[in-house]
Amino acid sequence: MSNDIIIDVQNLSHWFSNGTMGVDHVNLSIPQGEFVIMAGPNGSGKTTLLQHLNGLVMPSEGIVSIKGVPVKGNLLRARKMVGMVFQDADSQIVGETVREDVAFGPENLGLDPATVDCQTDGALKKVGLSHKADISPHLLSGGEKRRLAIAGVLSMQPEIILFDEPFSNLDYPGICQVVDQMKALKGDGRTIVVTSHDMDPVIGLADRLVILNRGRIVRQGDPLSVAMDAAAFGIRPLAGFIQSEAGP
Ligand SMILES: Nc1ncnc2c1ncn2[C@@H]1O[C@H](COP(=O)(O)OP(=O)(O)OP(=O)(O)O)[C@@H](O)[C@H]1O
Ligand SMILES: [Mg+2]
Repeated sequence: MSNDIIIDVQNLSHWFSNGTMGVDHVNLSIPQGEFVIMAGPNGSGKTTLLQHLNGLVMPSEGIVSIKGVPVKGNLLRARKMVGMVFQDADSQIVGETVREDVAFGPENLGLDPATVDCQTDGALKKVGLSHKADISPHLLSGGEKRRLAIAGVLSMQPEIILFDEPFSNLDYPGICQVVDQMKALKGDGRTIVVTSHDMDPVIGLADRLVILNRGRIVRQGDPLSVAMDAAAFGIRPLAGFIQSEAGP
């Protein structure tokens, strides 16, 4: 990990048109290569905060910068540098076939056709979906759709990857596959932010755990120390913590 700040969130607030506060005065600086878990109860603002990092949502107040450049006003650059795997894999499907779906991102970035093909094939291979390249994405299982969503992000080769609840509805092998992808991306020096109600699969990879509550960061720091306080904030504790509390 380097000391260069790649994601800088300054005094970010977001309220929706109906007046709901999504994010409330958040400051967060993430160095290049860091692996961050963002935890918090339902409605605490995790998805809204992630959506600001690649410009899906714009701040009501404050600034989000990627490598020193504000996301607002530089949307294409932000989309190129920050990929997001959505909480709902179905909502991310845009192609008629698995291959078209994965190629959509690099095509939109304006890459030449040979590079699009190469990055699409590489991403499909990485998630183990090459053999399903020509079928409709809607025929995939839930876990395969999640892998497709990950391939759609990998094909753009972004420096920062955001995973919003990547383990929901996945079976154990599915969770392992996603964790393996994350491990490889981390090894490759990518910066990763993961929101998850289940911290167990990723706690060993994380450099920092951030806890959100009602749109605010209420704790952050060393993952294991912060995880010890998780239950106090309505977050499921690590499995090991439950066992140790139950005693031998
Ligand atoms: N489009 C919207 N319009 C109005 N309020 C919204 C909208 N999207 C989210 N909210 C509200 O903003 C708050 C934060 O929502 P967000 O989806 O960011 O939470 P979350 O931490 O990701 O929750 P979950 O764990 O359920 O995924 C919630 O109170 C939610 O009801
Ligand atoms: Mg969410």
